Amino acid sequence: MHADRAFADTVPDVLPDVLIVGGGIIGLVTAWRSAQRGLRTTVVDPAPGGGAAQVAAGMLAAVTELHYGEQVLLGLNLESARRYPAFAAELAEASGQDLGYRTCGTLAVALDADDRAHLRELHALQQRSGLTSEWLTGRECRRLEPMLAPGVRGGLRVDGDHQIDPRRLAAALVTACERAGVDFRRDHVAELTVRGGRATGVVLAAGGALGAGQVVLAAGSLSGKLAGVPDDVLPPVRPVKGQVLRLTVPEAFAPFLSRTVRAVVRGSHLYLVPRENGELVVGATSEELGWDTTVTAGGVYELLRDAHELVPGITELPLTETRAGLRPASPDNAPLLGPTALPGLHLATGHYRNGVLLTPVTGDVMAEFLTTGELPAEAGPFTPRRFSSARQEQPV
Ligand code: GLY
Repeated sequence: MHADRAFADTVPDVLPDVLIVGGGIIGLVTAWRSAQRGLRTTVVDPAPGGGAAQVAAGMLAAVTELHYGEQVLLGLNLESARRYPAFAAELAEASGQDLGYRTCGTLAVALDADDRAHLRELHALQQRSGLTSEWLTGRECRRLEPMLAPGVRGGLRVDGDHQIDPRRLAAALVTACERAGVDFRRDHVAELTVRGGRATGVVLAAGGALGAGQVVLAAGSLSGKLAGVPDDVLPPVRPVKGQVLRLTVPEAFAPFLSRTVRAVVRGSHLYLVPRENGELVVGATSEELGWDTTVTAGGVYELLRDAHELVPGITELPLTETRAGLRPASPDNAPLLGPTALPGLHLATGHYRNGVLLTPVTGDVMAEFLTTGELPAEAGPFTPRRFSSARQEQPV
């Protein structure tokens, strides 16, 4: 039964059941899954399939990206990783497109004594969390990945952390949405409309309004500043800049790396993600600079310097692209999924470092919620209301 059937029944048939603000991978997967369940679905975005997915490396790294204090998020990350093989197969079939999904595993390595101590701590945390990873000596790491620097002191082999190409994922979701009957409005949203204490649709930047039974705000880092959303409902999402490089591995150098390689170099997280088509993605900076998406000489220098320490041969490769994107970060690094305090307005945002990984589970829980009005148990800890109640408890 439709969550807002009583409301939806009061509006003409031509209006969508669900209007999604934002056509990045999170908005698209929500739209695709909703349309599959029979909901009339509209996505508003000037360029569907764009956004952070055009920059992201696409690591599906629930185990190697584990951080202290993120145990609850780990549960959702693992659940989405578990759904990935079936999700990728279904989406490839629905879109007729290759997603660059690669079950290659990940190797996290240490370059000096401090990095090694850090990695040992991560290994202990992984073991306490019941995760599978194997400690390797430097020699064993180099046997797996011969391009690694001779100085590599040890590493963690994680065979369950894979990768997908986020650009292909986004393109496939656009096609799957179109084939499932999702309506795309290629425009910016100027404002949310609220009538009688309920979200009823949006005003478009080019003029005109769109009504809908339910509105989902899935605008990534922009989600925290949509006009018309009451202040106490606006999601506490901020942009965190990440600069990312793309290089190309010529045939003669292949295979340069056979799996994702990660490291913490002098406290900075570095990853190298090799695609089957020869692309090598190197990331990423993490910068609290608001809406700035400038690619800086310093950012590129630091990434190349650290990557060169890890894999000296990288400086031989053509550098084909430099780009910066904005991660949509929330105060606890976890996404906001489900209803807000404003009836009719729901959130699917704040996925921070895990948007690509969390795409399957986000689509499933949002479509389930939009269809039934019930948020599935796995999304329970991620309701947006966890932040509104905290705010209400703060002294004014
Ligand atoms: N998950 C990778 C990043 O946020 O850079």
